[in-house]
Amino acid sequence: MVLDDPTAVLPEAGSSCSLEDYLALPDHTMDERIAEARVKLGATTLLLGHHYQRDEVIRFADATGDSYKLSRIATESDAKYIVFCGVHFMAESADILSHSGQQVILPDLNAGCSMADMAEISQVEACWEAIEALGLDGETIPLTYMNSTAAIKAFCGEKGGLVCTSSNARAAFEWAFERGKRILFLPDQHLGRNTGFEMGIPLNEMTVWDPWGLQGGQTKQSLAQSRIILWKGHCAVHQRFLPSHVDAVRAKYPGIQVIVHPECRFEVCQKADALGSTERLIALVEQAPEGQMFAVGTEIHLVNRMARRFAEQGKKVITLDDTGCLCTTMYRISPAHLAWALENLVEGRVVNRIQVRASVKRWARVALDRMLEVG
Ligand code: 13P
Ligand code: SF4
Repeated sequence: MVLDDPTAVLPEAGSSCSLEDYLALPDHTMDERIAEARVKLGATTLLLGHHYQRDEVIRFADATGDSYKLSRIATESDAKYIVFCGVHFMAESADILSHSGQQVILPDLNAGCSMADMAEISQVEACWEAIEALGLDGETIPLTYMNSTAAIKAFCGEKGGLVCTSSNARAAFEWAFERGKRILFLPDQHLGRNTGFEMGIPLNEMTVWDPWGLQGGQTKQSLAQSRIILWKGHCAVHQRFLPSHVDAVRAKYPGIQVIVHPECRFEVCQKADALGSTERLIALVEQAPEGQMFAVGTEIHLVNRMARRFAEQGKKVITLDDTGCLCTTMYRISPAHLAWALENLVEGRVVNRIQVRASVKRWARVALDRMLEVG
């Protein structure tokens, strides 16, 4: 079949057909099939949608949220199948937190996260060996952002650390500082820096570990003196927002509130009125008085949805950078992938299951449970 061929016909639901057959058809032709499969699957299936998902996909979600909220919902669910419309690390976390008998499905296995790819477990182990060699391991707590592989979460769990998301980073940092003098924060330098600074840690007490540099590009002294060692990772989507964008919207729209995700660079966060996870950004607009205008620094699908939703309440929402910041990996989950995954489930076939190895799961679960405890 030719991709996007308007004459292509999808085989009847229930007949065996490959993902390529689904991908050949336009997005809107999937709606009825997704809805029908959803009804047939009933309570056996929980469909989760992260806020960066496209409209054509998120409208079928049973629950939407940021990574923390979705992981909580996954933990509390009794559904046999959890279909995660999000990215790989989110589905992995849901699998780690799932009960026995539950299965987690990611409709497109190519939906990864470029930030999570910036830290590999072998690099993290090499970093830790260097910290050990300098005798600093006993006073250093490894803390990883949810946007990381299951192996890195397991590493943190085993070494006495934990996981955090953008909605509980501060609580996780406090937890870690009750147990150690220093945090090794993986893999997002911006979230680490923004959180540390908000807690009163000056920038000169934070160092950046470059996994490609000799001893991370640091000296024994710089590591020993630091309170936070920041892994040199970032989100390419959020890194596009610049301080000049904040200046420009403030000049153009006096009185505008600038709210940004803490994955944005430090200089942008310093100029913003508030920072928050995706769920919190929505709440900030929701709680604002009528007539308030916002420039939002996060992924464009969420910003566009907020603009439409809050226009009805007399609030104006624009993107902080009007070239539009798209998370291309979140975008990979298409209606075709969703229809394919759901119709296979209706037929009793589980496709694209995300299954973390038991040996990794054990310590990753410890790290995630610690996160859920700090709230
Ligand atoms: P949230 O947990 O705020 O939804 O963020 C996830 C993410 O990947 C942001 O880029
Ligand atoms: Fe990863 Fe950035 Fe996409 Fe979030 S927005 S999933 S951090 S690439």
